[in-house]
Amino acid sequence: MESWLERDAAAVWHPFTQHSLWLADEPTVIERAEGPWLYDVDGNRYLDGVSSLWVTTFGHRTPEIDQAIRDQLDRLDHSTFLGATHPPGIELAERLLATTPGLDKVFFAGDGSSAVEVALKMAYQHSVQSGQPRPVFVHLAEAYHGDTLGAVSVGGIELFHATYRPLLLTTEAVGSPGLRKHGQTPAERAAEVIAELTELMARQGHEVCAIVVEPLVQAAAGMLTYDASFLQAARRLATEHGALLICDEVATGVGRTGRMWASQLAGITPDLLTCGKGLTAGYLPLSAVLATDAVYGSFLGSAASGRTFFHGHTYTANPLCCAAANANLALIESRGLLATATALGERLGDLLAPLADSDAVVEVRRLGTMTGVEVRSVGERTGQAVCRAARKRGVWLRPLGDVVILMPPLSLGRAETELLVGALTEAVDEVVR
Ligand SMILES: Cc1ncc(COP(=O)(O)O)c(C=O)c1O
Repeated sequence: MESWLERDAAAVWHPFTQHSLWLADEPTVIERAEGPWLYDVDGNRYLDGVSSLWVTTFGHRTPEIDQAIRDQLDRLDHSTFLGATHPPGIELAERLLATTPGLDKVFFAGDGSSAVEVALKMAYQHSVQSGQPRPVFVHLAEAYHGDTLGAVSVGGIELFHATYRPLLLTTEAVGSPGLRKHGQTPAERAAEVIAELTELMARQGHEVCAIVVEPLVQAAAGMLTYDASFLQAARRLATEHGALLICDEVATGVGRTGRMWASQLAGITPDLLTCGKGLTAGYLPLSAVLATDAVYGSFLGSAASGRTFFHGHTYTANPLCCAAANANLALIESRGLLATATALGERLGDLLAPLADSDAVVEVRRLGTMTGVEVRSVGERTGQAVCRAARKRGVWLRPLGDVVILMPPLSLGRAETELLVGALTEAVDEVVR
């Protein structure tokens, strides 16, 4: 009998994976999970240090969420959201809007990328319906909004995006407010990019339908955090020039920063907010775009007006996904998870302080629980080597280049948080000398 890995290598093509290195990296074959722990087919357990790619909220197999999905399964597995509706979808829209004063309508999609596609199409169509088609999107250097072509168009990570440039939408980019020059404060860097954006909007604002940002943290760029003044300026400049502000909260949303939405930390409300990832507590794929009544209103008209939003997915608002999300949002509230997440972020910061001072580390960046530890490169794929060394110590991590990401489940306990940082510290010691 072939092993799982042999069968995998023979049959599977994995995302973001160079398959010539796949087996050499000794991938883990996960069989089951419980709380913050992943178990492989050989019975080894690993702390899930990245919340299974930034999605797990309370840990795996949370009894209340398991039960909500089972209860939903006993009532309705799926029905379309085109020409019909259902209670879990309606309830979820209401719950989401209750967390976002200033946003009024919810459009469901599947993955984070598909929510971004929805937001981009809504923004452009809104400009058409407002009397002036504006075909340009403004985004940030180092941005990541997903892998579908609209999302790639507003991305700014050359390694991921350069190949596809000939296929993409019309965009303009400004610098990353998170990429500070040596000795620059976050506010100084933000001021530079605000000046750049001000100049761009003065020149071309009349063609711009939306400014698209990851609020306060450019996550996939390696947790580049930036000053709230930039987000506030983007809000102001979008309004001044009649463009929309899209805050992509797919990574930052649902409590990762210690607030429900990162944009709330900056005291701003976008015109369109995208969310996904942790929305279902890490159980099922579901994303959403939250819109203002002003945007929604421009889509109202007769059937012949062409103002319909011609977009939808077969599994839009799948009831099982909505049931998981409803249970998640209810638990976040009843357990006071946002305060727990804030405390977890602070604990991570305290525990990482010695590592931040180490010569082996270039920088530790963190907002709430979203943490990137940039290690000094000691050859090719140092970040990957650190993650493998952490795995030997019972912690599962995944790097972005030489930035080791920590994104634990938001309810992670004290002992597990110490294990997480302890294993990372030892792994960095082992690999980066
Ligand atoms: C900010 C942001 N937007 C969009 C996406 C894409 O989400 P998905 O992978 O669910 O398509 C991601 C994924 O990491 C993300 O970080």
